[in-house]
Amino acid sequence: MTMTRGALTRLNDAEWEMMWAPYDEPTYQAVLAHIQPHDVVLDIGAGDLRLALRMAKIAKRVYAVELQPTIGWQGVAAIAGALPQNLTILCGDARELPFPPNITVGVLLMRHCLHFQLYAEKLKTVGAQKLITNARWRLGVEIIPLSISRPSYSEIPLGWYACWCGATGFKCGPAEQLTPENEEKIFEVRNCPNCHKLAEVC
Ligand SMILES: C[S@@+](CC[C@H](N)C(=O)[O-])C[C@H]1O[C@@H](n2cnc3c(N)ncnc32)[C@H](O)[C@@H]1O
Repeated sequence: MTMTRGALTRLNDAEWEMMWAPYDEPTYQAVLAHIQPHDVVLDIGAGDLRLALRMAKIAKRVYAVELQPTIGWQGVAAIAGALPQNLTILCGDARELPFPPNITVGVLLMRHCLHFQLYAEKLKTVGAQKLITNARWRLGVEIIPLSISRPSYSEIPLGWYACWCGATGFKCGPAEQLTPENEEKIFEVRNCPNCHKLAEVC
């Protein structure tokens, strides 16, 4: 399907979330650098499997979840059906599908993701230790530890924060709180202003 720039700008958030688009090589390299031979990876929104196939060369096992079968099958066709034995394709909705047990790392390359918290919680439930994603900052890839305890937004000083709900931002405060250390640090938090906004909407 060909999309004009005008049509693209009219997409709503949910339509953007369903868009298939590959990322650039530095993004894939940033993910691959954090995959280890012992890892059992769950790739959420695997597209045409281009990253899943590369991760399968490193990891013990890769599960690739993709909602749109035609996109996933493009990847299978491109390798003439010669899927590696340690790659399992799960065709379905990652919001609904039970995640396989014993996942060690989740991969979520989806800059327009509306369900970050749901995926993070499901991954944590099946034992995953970290999530590699561009869903929160929507630019670079970050590695999120899933088992750490997070202070509430109200407990952190001025500075950058990234929340368990998927929101990011800068918490304002008195200028004297601004130190070189605070400028560099990103606080992992819960209960940010966006969480409350979501709660109000619901
Ligand atoms: C931006 S593409 C990224 C593809 C792939 N991760 C990559 O980097 O090459 C996002 C993909 O996520 C898929 N997707 C979106 N929501 C999904 C869901 N709820 N369950 C499974 N796949 C989903 C879309 O169909 C699309 O192929």
